Amino acid sequence: MLNWDDPLAQLQSTEPAPAEPVKVRPGMGLQDNQDIMRTAGAAPSVDPNPDTAPAAQQETRTDEEFLQGTGLEDIEMGARRIQVDDKQIINCRADLNQLVPFKYDWAWQKYLDGCANHWMPQEINMTADIALWKSADGLTEDERTIIKRNLGFFSTADSLVANNLVLAVYRHITNPECRQYLLRQSFEEAVHTHSYQYVVESLGMDEGEIFNMYRELPAVARKAEWALPFTQHLSDPHFHTGTPENDQKLLRELIAFYVIFEGIFFYVGFTQVLSMGRRNKMTGTAEQFQYILRDESMHMNFGIDVINQIKLENPHLWTDAFKQETITMIREAVEIETQYAYDTMPRGVLGLNASMFKAYLQFIANRRCSQIGLPGQYPGVSNPFPWMSEVLDLKKEKNFFETRVTEYQTGGALSWD
Ligand SMILES: [Fe+2]
Ligand SMILES: [Fe+2]
Repeated sequence: MLNWDDPLAQLQSTEPAPAEPVKVRPGMGLQDNQDIMRTAGAAPSVDPNPDTAPAAQQETRTDEEFLQGTGLEDIEMGARRIQVDDKQIINCRADLNQLVPFKYDWAWQKYLDGCANHWMPQEINMTADIALWKSADGLTEDERTIIKRNLGFFSTADSLVANNLVLAVYRHITNPECRQYLLRQSFEEAVHTHSYQYVVESLGMDEGEIFNMYRELPAVARKAEWALPFTQHLSDPHFHTGTPENDQKLLRELIAFYVIFEGIFFYVGFTQVLSMGRRNKMTGTAEQFQYILRDESMHMNFGIDVINQIKLENPHLWTDAFKQETITMIREAVEIETQYAYDTMPRGVLGLNASMFKAYLQFIANRRCSQIGLPGQYPGVSNPFPWMSEVLDLKKEKNFFETRVTEYQTGGALSWD
């Protein structure tokens, strides 16, 4: 049984949240998108040269302090054995190389569930999509726009999420069972990027056009641009948690990526492509998106559990000012994603129109707010796409394993000669 929903109790607290300028490090995939957009004629908003970043010149930590909380510290022979109570989700001082004893069973369960959902893009039959995409009158121009723009957005967005996980989030989550899930999630993000590449290649699309959309088309660029400053703070090697200000930065970043980027910014695209599949168009592509949506739903729920666990262990971070800031972020995200719906769907198509997406996003945002213990922001909205909830449960629609075209090699099938 998959665990899609596991919110912890709502929490209270006391202290205000700060803001700081962003530093940028080239070569990480986390550069500011304004820098990326220079190729599209936009001006950079921040200095991409790390040598000019003031805090980068002020590192005073010793090597030992720098490694604290990474799992890469020196081994302490004969040290006291790890107890469950030694474990903390952030700022843990206990050895991070010991998975057990488990403290956060929800994290380990999601790791197991993620592994049970394993799939690969090549297992999905793309033959019908290739014929439809290549036929002159198989799809309208609006339908083609939906496919291309969503491949454009997701093909780079999933790489951004993966870079954020590996280069920014992982170091600051100081719990082995959560890290085990983060490793699984990172691989799944690689599978998602692979999936988009596989669709682009199968359909014979111009890969340069698709993979450059996020720096050539403002409608696609806007969401990555919004998210980048959050991960840039955390990926700074000089950034460390352990103060209320920095712990709030981590919490803010987790909300930006798990609740908003994966929990709101993915949903117009998923709904559009899955709608095509429901109308028997681009069914292979829609199936790819369906498996991705199932993974993403798990990612988001893991992130929400992490956020709520951090709140539980650090209630002083969840101040009224921080809550208000989070609400503002979520409301802003709804505006940005609603604009994406209008940009990708200037006219009604597939029985959908952009104003339905506005209601859907408000419905989702209410849900996200309640999942992290905030009041709903859009009273009276209902879900115009109830079938999206059904789609999440693939077992109702079909048995995934019946659709597989390749077999995995198992231990029993290995040959030793
Ligand atoms: Fe993904
Ligand atoms: Fe994800």
